[in-house]
Amino acid sequence: MNLMSFKDKVKKFWNKASCGTEFIKEEKYTKKYFDSVEDFRYKVEPEIFSFAQFSRFRNKKVLEVGIGAGTDFIQWVRSGCIAYGMDLTEEAVKNTQIRLDLEDLKAKDLIVADAENIPYPEAVFDLVYSWGVIHHSQDTFKALDEIIRVTKSGGIIKLMIYNRYSLFAFYRWIIEALFKGKPFRSLKNVIFNNQESFGTKAYTKKEFIKKIKNLHVELINLDRTVSSHDLLYYKTKFYRRFAYVLASIFGWSRMGWFMKIELKKN
Ligand SMILES: C[S@@+](CC[C@H](N)C(=O)[O-])C[C@H]1O[C@@H](n2cnc3c(N)ncnc32)[C@H](O)[C@@H]1O
Repeated sequence: MNLMSFKDKVKKFWNKASCGTEFIKEEKYTKKYFDSVEDFRYKVEPEIFSFAQFSRFRNKKVLEVGIGAGTDFIQWVRSGCIAYGMDLTEEAVKNTQIRLDLEDLKAKDLIVADAENIPYPEAVFDLVYSWGVIHHSQDTFKALDEIIRVTKSGGIIKLMIYNRYSLFAFYRWIIEALFKGKPFRSLKNVIFNNQESFGTKAYTKKEFIKKIKNLHVELINLDRTVSSHDLLYYKTKFYRRFAYVLASIFGWSRMGWFMKIELKKN
């Protein structure tokens, strides 16, 4: 019997390798290694720049929840933000601290902590940013409550969570359910059991909007544009063309794996 708790499983998974470091060939924690992590990340996910707007928050208090290898986190610091970072794993904090030291940069605070229990007081941050994190947490909306709690009134929250009705989720279903002879498995089930750490969730736009209805936030923007993951950037031309056709049929602006959300705290 596996007695590991949900949180321990998530922590164990991300402690093995922070997001985006698993395919890097260079010696770990060297400048070359971090340069490769950064090159790869923004080649594959260039939309992060227009979403995060790093330089918009210069001199502002920014908390990043779930820093991973620290690639976005270092952009906050480089941009002159008063940057606080946290992650469930020691590996993420280690990657990020070494990276800061290599560039002689300083974060205001960098801690191992759980998004469902953020160890900062209420209403202190101008921006709370979290890319691809809270859908890995056992209780995604407890984490969102915490994020809202620590954001100042009038402050901004930027989140990326996975979009269930996306091309990428559909490909995962083809591989994990259809090809394995289990076509009755739902998208939800495939993502929960087969996508990155145990217990990953992906939401629909409707579900998310319903969940935030009674929270003290205003929805500024919600964007589900198709990403390079949906367009199978790592596959041959044949598959990439097929993905283009699917995006054209089902909608470039709603079938993206990344649901990018901007909220304003009331
Ligand atoms: C897919 S990675 C994303 C990391 C980073 N934001 C990025 O885009 O590269 C997910 C990260 O969320 C962290 N994480 C998962 N659950 C968490 C929680 N409850 N509290 C804080 N961090 C969590 C993991 O440790 C991991 O570093």
